[in-house]
Amino acid sequence: MDQQIDDIGQLALVKPVIPYADDTTAPDYLLLHYWWAYAHPWAVKFFDRHWIINLILLGNYRRLRDVALTEFGKAISGNTLQLACVYGDLTCQLARRVVAGGGNLDIVDILPIQLRNLKWKLPCRSPVRLLRMDTTALELRDESYDRVLLYFLLHEQPASERKRTLREALRVVKPGGKVMVLDFASPYWWNPLRYIWRPLLALLEPFALDLWRTDIAELLPPLYTDIRRERFFGGFFQKIVITR
Ligand SMILES: C[S@@+](CC[C@H](N)C(=O)[O-])C[C@H]1O[C@@H](n2cnc3c(N)ncnc32)[C@H](O)[C@@H]1O
Repeated sequence: MDQQIDDIGQLALVKPVIPYADDTTAPDYLLLHYWWAYAHPWAVKFFDRHWIINLILLGNYRRLRDVALTEFGKAISGNTLQLACVYGDLTCQLARRVVAGGGNLDIVDILPIQLRNLKWKLPCRSPVRLLRMDTTALELRDESYDRVLLYFLLHEQPASERKRTLREALRVVKPGGKVMVLDFASPYWWNPLRYIWRPLLALLEPFALDLWRTDIAELLPPLYTDIRRERFFGGFFQKIVITR
């Protein structure tokens, strides 16, 4: 990261200057560690293909997408919030179900390039708002959503941002509403991926192994006790549904 001398003569870390990112207000961790996946224009062109994301999820793309969709149902009413854009057709399918249920869908992302890419993918006249915001400080009202989805976002965030994102999700969901997290988890001991995948994740996704070590539920305030969990692919992936 660049360094500069600040007003009082101290060496201060400054945000990295990434000429191709169209928004340098994005968090450092995103521009430093994930520019190649989300911020670079070529990244969007390269990664947003079914076979690539399916490869990254080791052949589980459809299964995990459908796990998320099934949890919310075929016709989704009320207000739904998805924290962060995702590659693939999950959001388009979610939007179809929201249309079927007469609901509304809001998608938050900090990178304009990701929101533009999603806008291009969504069917015309979808009841979807694309909101440029940071998931760690949502400019959204308390208790205004019936459900919130966090799909493979938390493993990309450093611990403090991950905790703030989860708390924001719980703040904006209504009492009785659901926050669903789908993400990586620690594979069971007998799963060979536990040993093969660890160095790869450590290299490419510097915060992902936190989800191997820490239970997401530990990041929640103690009053949240209604937590349902499921594991997939030998424990490699997890779904957690927290009911507020
Ligand atoms: C949801 S995650 C990973 C998705 C997964 N790799 C996929 O495509 O299926 C990627 C998105 O999170 C967004 N993102 C990361 N940190 C964010 C933050 N603090 N606020 C808003 N968006 C964020 C990135 O801009 C990117 O569009």
